[in-house]
Amino acid sequence: MAEKPELIINGKRNDGRSSGDLRPIKIESNVIKNASGSAYIEWGKNKIIAAVYGPREALPKHTADPEKAVIKCRYSMAPFSSLEEHGRSGPNRRAIEISKVTKEVFENVVMLQDFPGSEINIYIEVLQSDGGTRAAGITAAAVAMASSGIPMTDLPYAVSAGKVGTEVILDLDKLEDNYSDADMPMAIAPIQNKILLLQMDGTLSREEIKRAVSMILKAGEAISKLQIAALKKPYEEISERYAKE
Ligand code: CDP
Repeated sequence: MAEKPELIINGKRNDGRSSGDLRPIKIESNVIKNASGSAYIEWGKNKIIAAVYGPREALPKHTADPEKAVIKCRYSMAPFSSLEEHGRSGPNRRAIEISKVTKEVFENVVMLQDFPGSEINIYIEVLQSDGGTRAAGITAAAVAMASSGIPMTDLPYAVSAGKVGTEVILDLDKLEDNYSDADMPMAIAPIQNKILLLQMDGTLSREEIKRAVSMILKAGEAISKLQIAALKKPYEEISERYAKE
């Protein structure tokens, strides 16, 4: 690996952010015509589409659960999404892991018992990546799931926090991710106040974890607002149109 660059200079990160700042986030819902629900997210330089299909009959049949719906999730990076190789030989170990943890996030908020025998598919397609794609993908998939009308007990979001030297920072980009001393993505169910995903690369002390979690929860308020605004927008546009007619 190349020599470690200076990641924080005079309290500012390489893109000008302070330690607790998020990258700019834009979310749009209902972007894929044929999906039950969908969302597009730009999170810093990440560009990701999430699409939800279902509930529909679980196939092949042996994957069905007669008691509740099953969630199937596929996270995938487009071959052109980064400088690293993607897409030539099916999902790699990392894509399988991210698909699994994302599926587990949604198993905890979707009301699966309402749809026995069926499956709900979540597709997360990373078009451009710059660190934090699992968090951005989960955040977008939550909007896609909600826009599909599938009942959920909460609207999860995800974001990561980590450490550079002794500084705890929020929302690591790719450069920070590559050279950081720790990276801790978390997904949160804000209404239930529950942690749905917690992964950790590197080490953080108890105090550092507390700082990281409080940064994540504070940022989560802003992320939740963006998710809700994205969900409302198509309906606001319709009511504006009717108001004009
Ligand atoms: O994206 P996320 O931070 O959730 O996952 P990561 O495994 O920590 O990867 C960090 C970043 O490295 C990704 O967002 C991609 O930009 C890049 N990456 C890649 O392009 N190809 C890989 N096989 C792994 C990582």
